[in-house]
Amino acid sequence: MNSDILLLGQTLSFAADPFQQGPEAAQIHARGAVLIRDGLIMETGPADDLRAAYPQAVVTDHGDALIMAGFIDAHVHYPQTAMIASWGKRLIDWLNHYTFPEEQQFADPAYAAEIAGRYLDLTLANGTTSVVSFCTIHPASVEAFFGAAQQRGQRVVAGKTCMDRDTAPDFLRDTAQSAYDDSKALLEKWHGTDRLSYAITPRFSPTSTPDQLAALGALWAEHPDCLMQTHLSEQVDEIAWVKSLYPEARDYLDTYEEHGLLRPGGMYGHAIHLEDREKDRLLEVDAALVHCPTSNTFIGSGLFDMGGLMADGHRIGLATDTGGGSSFSMLRTMAAAYEIGQLRHRPLHPSELLWLATTGSARAIRMEDKIGNLAPGMEADIVVLDLASTPAIAQRSARAEDLWEAVFPTIMMGDDRAISAVYLAGQRTHLPPKSITQ
Ligand code: GUN
Ligand code: ZN
Repeated sequence: MNSDILLLGQTLSFAADPFQQGPEAAQIHARGAVLIRDGLIMETGPADDLRAAYPQAVVTDHGDALIMAGFIDAHVHYPQTAMIASWGKRLIDWLNHYTFPEEQQFADPAYAAEIAGRYLDLTLANGTTSVVSFCTIHPASVEAFFGAAQQRGQRVVAGKTCMDRDTAPDFLRDTAQSAYDDSKALLEKWHGTDRLSYAITPRFSPTSTPDQLAALGALWAEHPDCLMQTHLSEQVDEIAWVKSLYPEARDYLDTYEEHGLLRPGGMYGHAIHLEDREKDRLLEVDAALVHCPTSNTFIGSGLFDMGGLMADGHRIGLATDTGGGSSFSMLRTMAAAYEIGQLRHRPLHPSELLWLATTGSARAIRMEDKIGNLAPGMEADIVVLDLASTPAIAQRSARAEDLWEAVFPTIMMGDDRAISAVYLAGQRTHLPPKSITQ
């Protein structure tokens, strides 16, 4: 047996959902501890109690830093790493002008491997321990991503992006049959291997024929324990386009529903401009919505209704969206979610933001029994946050009267310098050296 590991610091876990219970849903130990054995969290509690109970454990003392579950980014496109921050376009032009030419390069397995490794290192340096990624139409892009995550010991979800319609460029098209066959082969190879899971991945209705959506719906029915990820109602022009391509559909969601692509385990990115029927069906089915706030402002999509959708009981995760967004950091993403909340007159509390980036995303991807909280039995994917990582943040957090006031400056102004340590299944990962301007 490996030695027990005892992490000391300020600990944060969630006993309930702060959207329902308020900030009291959080459990905070100002001088707390986390006991890890064989990659799992065994116990959390006051440091003195756990030190006395586990005198043989190897201790790492993180001082005043905040120990919490690692961040879970519930909707990313790792192939867009190198073209993030591309100027001046909205969704459809942005896809055609910047995204599709970049994704074409993933036909080359060496390029795919280089970007997969770069992406996972960038996000780990930002405290993100799990992601749910779109790949490209190339099976090699999925192989590269799962290979890189497996090497790092990460729990990730990913899938081959499927596009067979002539709305996508011919250099990025599969067919209904090849999408089914390739997705099935990848799923059978990777789903459930180590910490890896497969998500069936039609990019979105405008780039798939009804035949392809139906083929992927059939594949999902054959493998109901897989997740399914796609996009929904991100921009107004996109919705009009969907209506023109699917004139029979009742609404955008119906294009998925009609083809077997609306079920529990479905994850619908963006979901900003929803009609009432769509909201009702998503709730009835208990499918997940994924909020991508930096993307929704960066490419000008709109203001997600977190307050209203949460009050209605939707299952919602938080995500960067990679190239559509403007940051690899879930801290920056929480800040953007806060800002969008302000524009909708519903400021999200720090407890709600931290919950969304951990337990909320874990619920969206149906892994809340494994990751997303510091609780006994959970996998020990952990981030340690320095709440005074820059002079600007330090001077604000110094006058904080409680944890929420202490952590909010890091949410709003923090970056990778705030990430003191990251643990994957209890193993500390190597992080790049911090900037000398720190
Ligand atoms: N809709 C379809 N594909 C994409 C994508 O790559 N990014 C975003 N933001 N929206 C999409
Ligand atoms: Zn996306």
